[in-house]
Amino acid sequence: MKKENITSSITQTKKLAEKIAKQIIKKGPEGQAFVIGLKGDLGGGKTTFVQGFAKGLGVKEKILSPTFVIYRKSQIPNPNGQSNPKSQIPKFKYFYHFDFYRTAKPEEILSLGFKEIISDSRNIVAIEWADKIKKIMPKNTLWLNFEFINESTRKITFRKITL
Ligand SMILES: Nc1ncnc2c1ncn2[C@@H]1O[C@H](COP(=O)(O)OP(=O)(O)OP(=O)(O)O)[C@@H](O)[C@H]1O
Ligand SMILES: [Mg+2]
Repeated sequence: MKKENITSSITQTKKLAEKIAKQIIKKGPEGQAFVIGLKGDLGGGKTTFVQGFAKGLGVKEKILSPTFVIYRKSQIPNPNGQSNPKSQIPKFKYFYHFDFYRTAKPEEILSLGFKEIISDSRNIVAIEWADKIKKIMPKNTLWLNFEFINESTRKITFRKITL
């Protein structure tokens, strides 16, 4: 995974996301949910990235900007490059897409069962505007920053902080 990625089209952003999703699936769950925090410029490509990411997970549902709902939950199908479907090896099961552009009241978020969602190792969780809830984001979040360069170009930077 390159630290800095320049994409010059929607397709390139989606492809990058798809590749990352496949790597995460291949590695499998470990301890708690795999959480991705997306932040950066308005129209930076966060939702576009999540669309490619969900495709990489094999999610069938259409990924929309969850404007009127805070989050959407989808099933991650099995098998999807996830070792042997019959094996006892744990696999990812659910994909959550949160968007805190409108709401970022920690009490409201916590009342949705957020803590449980990010603790469950079967979950993959993508959170747009995650910097608004930095305090309650897990320490091992994979942070992605989206920068608007020009109409068709975006800079996507990765940062993983593990304690
Ligand atoms: N290289 C690129 N990658 C992603 N999107 C791009 C790119 N070039 C142009 N775009 C356009 O930028 C817009 C990105 O919108 P998108 O909804 O994905 O951004 P966002 O970061 O989720 O926005 P918001 O801040 O409203 O949540 C789209 O209209 C898309 O067509
Ligand atoms: Mg968005």
